Amino acid sequence: MSRESYESEQQWHLIVDAAPSGMLLVDEHGTIVMVNISALRQFGYEREELLGKSVEILIPGPFRAGHRQYRAGFLKVPQTRSMGAGRELFGLRKDGSEFAVEIGLTPIQMNRGMGTLASVVDISERKRLETQLRRTERLAELGTLASGMAHEIGTPMNVILGRAEYLLQRTDDEGMKKGLATIVTQVERITKVMNQLLAFARRKTPERRAIDLVEIVDESLEMFEERIAQSRITIDKTIEPSLPLVLADRDQLIQVLINLVINSIHAMPEGGQLRLSLTCEESHVCLRLSDTGHGIPEEIRAKVFEPFFTTKDFGKGTGLGLTVVKGIVEEHGGTIAVESVVGKGTTFWIRLPLDKAQAAATS
Ligand SMILES: Nc1ncnc2c1ncn2[C@@H]1O[C@H](COP(=O)(O)OP(=O)(O)OP(=O)(O)O)[C@@H](O)[C@H]1O
Ligand SMILES: [Mg+2]
Repeated sequence: MSRESYESEQQWHLIVDAAPSGMLLVDEHGTIVMVNISALRQFGYEREELLGKSVEILIPGPFRAGHRQYRAGFLKVPQTRSMGAGRELFGLRKDGSEFAVEIGLTPIQMNRGMGTLASVVDISERKRLETQLRRTERLAELGTLASGMAHEIGTPMNVILGRAEYLLQRTDDEGMKKGLATIVTQVERITKVMNQLLAFARRKTPERRAIDLVEIVDESLEMFEERIAQSRITIDKTIEPSLPLVLADRDQLIQVLINLVINSIHAMPEGGQLRLSLTCEESHVCLRLSDTGHGIPEEIRAKVFEPFFTTKDFGKGTGLGLTVVKGIVEEHGGTIAVESVVGKGTTFWIRLPLDKAQAAATS
């Protein structure tokens, strides 16, 4: 090899390795003859593990069979184009995981026949953001609808409630009283749904302050003191000393706790134990709430955060409690997770980021 061609080959390698997208050169038999650093990173291989191998090891099982035919088709009409013609494409990593890709194909005449240069872009992050955006948009629409409806329905409901209570005071007829009392409780139910919807719509901009979660927990539990005692539920609280503050909206966090505690009370009609703990984990405060209730069957666990998902009787649950909880937690930059064993109980974990100003001052 002459010095110039050696140098130009070195340069060529540098250029290819500097490319942000993965690049693979495949010969007409489908054997990988060149691979750049980005592709190695994407697929999790070392260079020597890929060179000389069939490109099919990078293709997930279900797509592998069709690939050979596709490759033959491409070589018949070798033109630069994107692969898959609008289909979703996936790459297969060495560890067996898959990721969404976009692939551009360019035919390259090599000494040994026609090669194909595949340029691979990992689009999994883009896809994740797209899904998240669609979800956020849907929830925003629902929020707007909810606040509109809450207003339209709230006013007549208050009138109905007022009249029913007025008549209730004026009558001595037992049958009438019973009927009116039913109207009152049913209207209260609707009001509850509406309040949940409003909390969900959260038109109010959150007011974030440095907040001590211990106070929030105590305050929320206080509201349920009587109900908890009546339901034969005992409370066990574990709080790490000198817990850092979080930057949060107080009312919203109380709403989070109320919704979780009510769910736990509902899950333990025969009584049980409600355990709450607050701990600090590096940059987060973790709130753990577990009950010894009936638990959540695995097949519905993924759905509990969805709007309007409820297993409670018609009129009893709105199915918005956990949607509100998740919305608030995520709006605060936090995360929520659930674990449950049927017949044993359910645990919710909420992680909220520390108040940054405070975190900076203490580190
Ligand atoms: N601690 C828990 N134990 C068992 N199941 C639970 C628990 N928390 C939630 N769930 C399940 O998740 C579902 C959804 O909860 P979510 O709070 O969103 O709505 P809901 O409680 O049904 O209605 P609402 O909150 O309006 O009263 C519940 O219907 C219940 O099946
Ligand atoms: Mg609930």
